[in-house]
Amino acid sequence: MATATAARTFTKAFPRSASSAASSLRLAARPSRDNAAKRFFQQSSRRHYSSAPEPAKKSSTGAIVGGAAAAALLAGGLWLYNSQGEVHLKSGSAGQSAGLITPTPADYQKVYDAVAKALWEHDEYEDGSYGPVLLRLAWHASGTYDAETGTGGSNGATMRFSPEADHGANAGLKNARDFLEPIKQQFPWISYSDLWILAGVCAVQEMQGPTIPWRPGRQDRDLSFCTPDGRLPDASKDQNHIRAIFGRMGFNDQEMVALSGAHALGRCHTDRSGYDGPWTFSPTVLTNDYYRLLLEEKWGWRKWNGPKQYEDLKTHSLMMLPTDMALIKDPIFKKYVEKYAKDNDAFFKDFSDAVVRLFELGVPFQSKAEDRMTFKTLEQ
Ligand code: HEM
Repeated sequence: MATATAARTFTKAFPRSASSAASSLRLAARPSRDNAAKRFFQQSSRRHYSSAPEPAKKSSTGAIVGGAAAAALLAGGLWLYNSQGEVHLKSGSAGQSAGLITPTPADYQKVYDAVAKALWEHDEYEDGSYGPVLLRLAWHASGTYDAETGTGGSNGATMRFSPEADHGANAGLKNARDFLEPIKQQFPWISYSDLWILAGVCAVQEMQGPTIPWRPGRQDRDLSFCTPDGRLPDASKDQNHIRAIFGRMGFNDQEMVALSGAHALGRCHTDRSGYDGPWTFSPTVLTNDYYRLLLEEKWGWRKWNGPKQYEDLKTHSLMMLPTDMALIKDPIFKKYVEKYAKDNDAFFKDFSDAVVRLFELGVPFQSKAEDRMTFKTLEQ
C-alpha cells in the first residue's frame, strides 16, 4: 500500500525537449520530492475553452427559494449534510437512534485521509497525480458564484448534472468527479459539495501547499440550481475580464493574483480547453514558481495550430495563457506578482486566505468562521 513517505513523490516535471535547459530553469520545487521525470507532452485533438455569453440569470429565483427553504429547515434545528435523502440530526436528537450520525472533525479527517491515500495510490494519472484536477473541480464548483444574486458557488455540487457538467470550462473535470465517487460511497453521509471542496483542500495540502481551514455545511442541490454557462473565466481575455469575473464573486485585485498562483499546478489539455502544456516544471508541487517564471522568463506567442498562448523562449516547454500574462501587463496586478515571486510565505498565506473565501462562496453555514477545522496531511 502506498503511503506518503518521503521517498514517494508527486513531482514529475516534463520538459518537452532539452532536459538540460529545463533543469537550468527549474525553480523552487522542494528537493525531497524533486524527482523530475522526462516525458513528452501529450498532443491530442483540440477543443475550445469555455464559454457562451451568460444568459439571463434564470436560476436565481430557484436558488433563492431553495436557500430560504434550507434556512427554514436549519432554523428548525436540523443539520443537512447532503441531498441523498439523508438528513443528519443534531447530537441527542431522535435521528441518532435511527442510526444517523453527526460527523465530528475526526470523521472529516477520515474523509481527508481517504482522499489523500487515493491520491498517492493513483499515481498512474498524468504527471503522477490527480491533485491538480481535484483542485480545479473545487474551484469550478465555487467560481460560479454571483454575489449580487447569491447564486452559484460551492453549495450544491450542481456540476453533477447537465447542462453544467457540459459547459466548455468544465471539460475534463469528470476525471475528478469519478475519482471521488468511491470515496462518496465509502462515506455516504458527506454531501458531494462538501466532499469536492474537502478534496480541493486535500489536493493543495498533499501537493505541499499551505493549510486550508475548512468547514462543512454545503448541501447538494438538484439540476434546477445549475448555473448558466459563461460564469467562469475565459483564458483568451485580458485584465478587465479577470476583474469582471472575480469582482462578481467579491474578490479584490490582490486576491485575484493570489488565487492565480494555483497555475503552478497542473497543465492545459488540447482536448479540454484547447490550450496545451504546464505552467511550471513541478506541476504537482505548489510553489510560487508561477510568479517567478512569469517575471523571469522571456515569453513569446507559440507558433502552432491552436488558440493563442505564450511559450517560454528558452525551452519552449512551458506555457502561459493570455489571462496569466495580463497579470504582468496590468501595473496593479504586477505589484502583487512581484511580491509573491519574492516571498513564498506571503504567497502561501494570501493563497490560503483567498482559497478559504473562494471555497465558502454561496454556502449558508450554520457554523461560525472560528469553527473551521484544519486537516493533518498524511505525512503529519
Ligand atoms: C483568470 C482566471 C483563470 C483562467 C482563465 C483559468 C484557465 C485555465 C485553463 C484554460 C486551464 C486548462 C484546463 C485544461 O485544459 O485541462 C486551467 C487549469 C487549471 N486551473 Fe485555471 N484558470 C483561472 C484561474 C484558476 C484558479 C483561481 C484556480 C484555483 C484556485 C485554478 C486552478 C487550475 C488548476 C489546478 C488547473 C490544472 C488542471 C489540470 O491539470 O487538470 N485556475 N485553468
